[in-house]
Amino acid sequence: MTDGRPLILGNWKMHRTPSETTAFLGDLLPRVQGVTGRDIAVAPPYTCLAAAGEALRGSAVSLAAQDVFWEDQGAYTGAISAPMLQDLGVRYVIVGHSERRQHQGETDHTVRLKVQAALRADLVPVVCVGEQETARVSGRADTVVRGQVLRALEETAPGDLRNIVVAYEPIWAIGTGRTATPSDIAGMHAVIRSEIERVFGGPGAAVRVLYGGSVTPATIDVIMAAPGVQGVLVGGASLRAADFARIAAYRVD
Ligand code: PGA
Repeated sequence: MTDGRPLILGNWKMHRTPSETTAFLGDLLPRVQGVTGRDIAVAPPYTCLAAAGEALRGSAVSLAAQDVFWEDQGAYTGAISAPMLQDLGVRYVIVGHSERRQHQGETDHTVRLKVQAALRADLVPVVCVGEQETARVSGRADTVVRGQVLRALEETAPGDLRNIVVAYEPIWAIGTGRTATPSDIAGMHAVIRSEIERVFGGPGAAVRVLYGGSVTPATIDVIMAAPGVQGVLVGGASLRAADFARIAAYRVD
């Protein structure tokens, strides 16, 4: 389902109402109209997905969700399933964001179940991994991230790997204005890639690996030039149409 192009995904987190969504996308779409050679998507809150889907109809920008429950239907009050998202026109779903791991009890186990639920419904899971600052300082970042990747992708069939995206988001870089350096990013991307290929062999090369954490118009070109980076997950800057459009239009010389 994915074609290996870089992915620029905006994560709006808990921001915007449906009417604000319609107005924002009306502003954003003309700004990204001429941008080609990359996949662009936005992940509004659940309550805005229908309005966003309407606004994005016929455009090159795809719809993403910020989470999904692991069962397809049933007595799970408050939960939203992958088939429900699929029916709304959602293409990507963020799974295991560190804010959900921190505030909503998300674990590697629930992340794995959600990855499988997304794949069953033909959605592309965007699996977030990343270390705390303490792990980086103590030299355990690679081990932490390898473990997260391994446990999230356990049970994934090799044929599904081309529909999987992994986003490396160091927790200390999210919402802090502290972007990881290109060499930190390239280093961790190489670790993630080698872990995936250790487990899955050649088909693992089809997984797209993104970076996320304080990506801005000022840093995007350098980040996209880092070896192994196949896109970005953008939080704060994705709420500003001009900034997100500039990020989507990144240039690598
Ligand atoms: P940020 O968020 O760009 O605001 O750091 C990134 C994310 O949490 O996905």
